[in-house]
Amino acid sequence: MDKEIRKIGVLTSGGDAPGMNAAIRAVVRKSIVNGLEVVGIERGFLGLLNEEIFEMNKRSVSDIIQQGGTILGTARCHEFREEEVQEQAAQICRKHGIDGIVVIGGDGSYRGAQALARHGINTIGIPGTIDLDIACTDYTIGFDTAINTAMQAIDKVRDTSSSHERCSIIEVMGRGAGYIALWCGMANGAEDILIPETYDYDEQRIVDNIINNRKHGKKHHIIINAEGIGHSTSMARRIEAATGIETRATILGYMQRGGSPSCKDRFYASIMGAYAADIISQGKSNRVVAYKNGEFCDFDIEEALAMTKKIPDYQYEVALELSR
Ligand code: F6P
Repeated sequence: MDKEIRKIGVLTSGGDAPGMNAAIRAVVRKSIVNGLEVVGIERGFLGLLNEEIFEMNKRSVSDIIQQGGTILGTARCHEFREEEVQEQAAQICRKHGIDGIVVIGGDGSYRGAQALARHGINTIGIPGTIDLDIACTDYTIGFDTAINTAMQAIDKVRDTSSSHERCSIIEVMGRGAGYIALWCGMANGAEDILIPETYDYDEQRIVDNIINNRKHGKKHHIIINAEGIGHSTSMARRIEAATGIETRATILGYMQRGGSPSCKDRFYASIMGAYAADIISQGKSNRVVAYKNGEFCDFDIEEALAMTKKIPDYQYEVALELSR
């Protein structure tokens, strides 16, 4: 028989993402509707180990749906990979009467959730990362806000790039994945989009492209470079030397992770949070909530972590074709 769930905890882990607060709000309120007690755990798995645990009620999550970041705080907790640390965390849960935990974060956070489930604490993951790099889901909380933030910043760089007739290399986040670069590359009409999934390190091709575009009257040349390739500043130096065209690098950095979440992030986070609250109260464990082929669903964490996904070739080719 499934374990009876009376009290659950909620935590955010890994890099923060806009919309995490909407997910926390949904987990808390829907769990209370389902008759559970809820505690918040601060600073992710690190906070769990330090017993930074506090009771939450419906009012604890008032006025947060529009806020960026995470009210619970977050951390990366490397020691959580150790077996004895995981057992210690499970003991702490038992001590506080916590039967299950909803973990909002990325792949790394799912591994922590999986470990806790192995040690007898029910866990459900919710995909929270701006990178969109979780294979089991077509949507991750924070991606929409991040691409809109980056897109607006890139528009601004483009203005000054055109005025000065410069080439601009703009580096966007995404860890090892090129989703933010692809979406901004398309939305900003970038002349080149460099993503780790396809980049061949052929800088001569980029140089030829810039020279050719200049001959055809283009005033600027925007290159979106994914963080997974990086080295934008040295790339800019080499491109300027090879083309004779002033080239500047802009690294957008952490601003992409901040700001008030978009409507889409608030909506998806709310459904995913409620869904997680529902399945954890039914006694499910070691599952992650996902959005796949137009539906909200859940997968076993093992299965989810074994999945792979690819940048769609067609989308990438079209983004480049439309900017030529
Ligand atoms: O996963 C989100 C993300 O912003 C990545 O795009 C980036 O590689 C990473 O987090 C940066 O992490 P940190 O906050 O630890 O520097």
